[in-house]
Amino acid sequence: MPTVLITGCDTGIGREFAQQYVRDAWDVIATYRDPDNQLEHATGLRNRKLDVTIAEDFHELKADLGDEPLDLIVSNAGVGLDTGKLGSLDYDYVRTMYEINTIGPLRLVETFVDNLTSGTQRRLATVTSRMGSIGLNLSGGHYGYRASKAGLNAIMRSLAIDLFPRGITVVSLHPGWVDTAGGGSPNAAIPVAESVASMRNVIRWLGSHETGQVYSYDGTPLTW
Ligand SMILES: NC(=O)c1ccc[n+]([C@@H]2O[C@H](COP(=O)([O-])OP(=O)(O)OC[C@H]3O[C@@H](n4cnc5c(N)ncnc54)[C@H](OP(=O)(O)O)[C@@H]3O)[C@@H](O)[C@H]2O)c1
Repeated sequence: MPTVLITGCDTGIGREFAQQYVRDAWDVIATYRDPDNQLEHATGLRNRKLDVTIAEDFHELKADLGDEPLDLIVSNAGVGLDTGKLGSLDYDYVRTMYEINTIGPLRLVETFVDNLTSGTQRRLATVTSRMGSIGLNLSGGHYGYRASKAGLNAIMRSLAIDLFPRGITVVSLHPGWVDTAGGGSPNAAIPVAESVASMRNVIRWLGSHETGQVYSYDGTPLTW
């Protein structure tokens, strides 16, 4: 079966990705930040520690996986949403968002790109947000979150170009407004299971023509 590596499986969208791929009998490397949040034992599932801000965690996971081929990486770990307004911005939190939402995914790809190259499917999916779209920003605010996701989108676009010769398809996915802690409201429009099933569907039909694009969870292309 194919192998997927997923970040941010402690809760929410990442956890749901892991559970759905396990149900479909994939080999799943589900990474957690807090050991208390490891997924229950299941066939094909490996729980591994990875805080995307800690270089040592990357080194240890790489040493553990060695040259094992990966078919798909789902870069999902992220934090948001900052509510800081001009005049009362929390720059420490802005910096934290960059560390987790922007730099972490880049380090993830740099660490495991050879594993992905030796996989069969060779797909990289990043969970972004339409809040990172400059063209769709009509309401302002959320400086740190928007900038961290816009930076993430820029990085994924460059990776799509740089990794094209290796046959790796890169896509950024907006999950919709999802009923997770990250969604920030129990009134969020989309149940997490539905969002993840839809994103998995987009990942499934991805071809090299789609590399470097941003899509909503339902496959609708989004503007930068
Ligand atoms: N829900 C939405 O409506 C929505 C909309 C647009 C985009 N997104 C994006 O979707 C992704 C998942 O968010 P979610 O909605 O599922 O919210 P969530 O439940 O808060 O999940 C975020 C996950 O990221 C993990 N994480 C945080 N910092 C980390 C770190 N340094 N290293 C590794 N993992 C870390 C969290 O672990 P801990 O619990 O241990 O902190 C948690 O498992 C994020 O990238 C978010 O920006 C969500």
